[in-house]
Amino acid sequence: ADQFDVTVIGTGPGGYVAAIRAAPLGKKVAVVEKWATHGGTCLNIGCIPSKALLHASELFEEAGHSFKQLGIDVGAPKLDLKQMLAHKDETVAANVGGVDYLFKKNKITVYRGIGSIPAAGRVLVTPQSGAPTEIASKAIIIATGSVSANLPGIEVDEKQIVTSTGALSLETVPERLVVIGAGVIGLELGSVWARLGSKVTVVEYLDRILPGMDSEVARNFQRMLQKQGFEFHLSSKVSGIDKAEDGSLIVKVEPAQGGGQAVIEADVALVAIGRKPYTEGLGLDLVGVALDERGRVRVDAHYKTSVEGIYAIGDVIAGPMLAHKAEDEGIAVAEIIAGQAGHVNYGAIPSVVYTNPEIASVGKTEDELKAEGIDYKIGKFPFTANGRAKAMLATQGFVKILADVATDRVLGAHIVGKNAGEMIHELVTLMEFSGAAEDLARTTHAHPTLSEAVREAALSLGDGAIHI
Ligand code: FAD
Ligand code: NAI
Repeated sequence: ADQFDVTVIGTGPGGYVAAIRAAPLGKKVAVVEKWATHGGTCLNIGCIPSKALLHASELFEEAGHSFKQLGIDVGAPKLDLKQMLAHKDETVAANVGGVDYLFKKNKITVYRGIGSIPAAGRVLVTPQSGAPTEIASKAIIIATGSVSANLPGIEVDEKQIVTSTGALSLETVPERLVVIGAGVIGLELGSVWARLGSKVTVVEYLDRILPGMDSEVARNFQRMLQKQGFEFHLSSKVSGIDKAEDGSLIVKVEPAQGGGQAVIEADVALVAIGRKPYTEGLGLDLVGVALDERGRVRVDAHYKTSVEGIYAIGDVIAGPMLAHKAEDEGIAVAEIIAGQAGHVNYGAIPSVVYTNPEIASVGKTEDELKAEGIDYKIGKFPFTANGRAKAMLATQGFVKILADVATDRVLGAHIVGKNAGEMIHELVTLMEFSGAAEDLARTTHAHPTLSEAVREAALSLGDGAIHI
């Protein structure tokens, strides 16, 4: 069998980054991927295609609304959905091609097929056709990611009842779209189709949208989406979907606690109720790699599984299912295998919802600080008081910074607003350095920028904001 130091199973953001980091540390590296292209969920059917459609649909929406106010009269914009989807596909192709290039550059050996682990130190690759190959490897990294969770009794066909994958490739704009689950996927992909003309109705089990996000942020954001035409049925669950004679869907909705049934008619239903770790076909039970109660591969602080020489990272282990979390674990595990001190700071992982406006956050939410009994103070600043935001017609939203009363140390930050996903990083950096709100308040910010609102929120925690 071919001999490697490190073999990575799965080439999503976790796996491909681990491979690319391990090679220059002097390791002989192989990767095993069952899909035709590298990049995993994120590059093929996740982050990248969704952001291509979010960008294009946002401009389409703006062309129909705010362009006039800016003195640009282009008439009513006409949708060329085929071209918009082609742009998305080209974006994906360019990105996955980039991973091929990086593998070649780093002399990483690529195996195509399903990887399984017959024993520690060995990986079996079973291609779609042809004989399986066995690889010997000192270390094995499981980076097999996650797949959409399904709703019992509801069969996904990826045409009419879709997961995020089908929702990225609808051939026509559905007149009526029902989204099941008011999480990140439901709100991002719901936004895409709402902007292109769908009437979007969201059914959410909990009494709020975006669980886990700061609840004040979520409440405000829900109102913004309602202004965009979203309709929400909170504390509700879908009990089944029937097909009407004309082919449309009859979505049956009940109160979460049970009770009278209502019906929502729709052309397409998007099931977005979360994702689950994917370990099928790896043969983990045979080799003895333990899973936790939620089916995730159990690891210690060094990404070691219960079997010596087998590691796991990314969506398949605990923690937020985010591409940058997977990537950073990829770097850390490669360094650990090479004898270095790889580490991820889980207290400072940003998360971004790429809607309009965007939501970005890092660190603790106000709800968490309350629950933990921490004495905190809140600095806030609205974009309505920011000059650049006015010029850009982007005055929706605010910056909220949470800091420790005794030490002034920043514990969390939440931004709703245009480009929030870019702006959050100065707060991530600040938290990485255990910075205080005053550090941020005394840092000069260029004028006029949206980021001045971040500084003003920090100023409001001390001597006071200037522009409000
Ligand atoms: P994955 O990306 O899931 O990759 C796993 C890879 O392993 C796949 O290529 C799979 O084919 C392969 N594989 C599985 N089993 C085997 C096997 N036995 N043998 C060989 N190969 C195997 N995150 C963000 O941070 N930002 C976003 O904007 C964002 N947008 C998203 C949008 C959507 C619609 C979705 C669905 C997800 C989004 N995510 C986003 C989440 C992000 O995609 C994941 O967190 C990330 O892809 C996890 O990376 P990973 O490497 O752990 O696994
Ligand atoms: P999610 O966990 O964000 O949201 C799922 C929602 O569905 C929750 O609000 C939950 O309460 C609700 N729900 C669960 N069961 C339900 C039911 N039976 N009926 C009605 N509602 C129900 O999961 P989502 O949106 O599917 O995304 C999966 C993961 O992908 C996320 O956890 C996120 O980490 C990642 N992702 C990240 C993105 C980003 O960073 N911008 C974009 C898209 C996905």
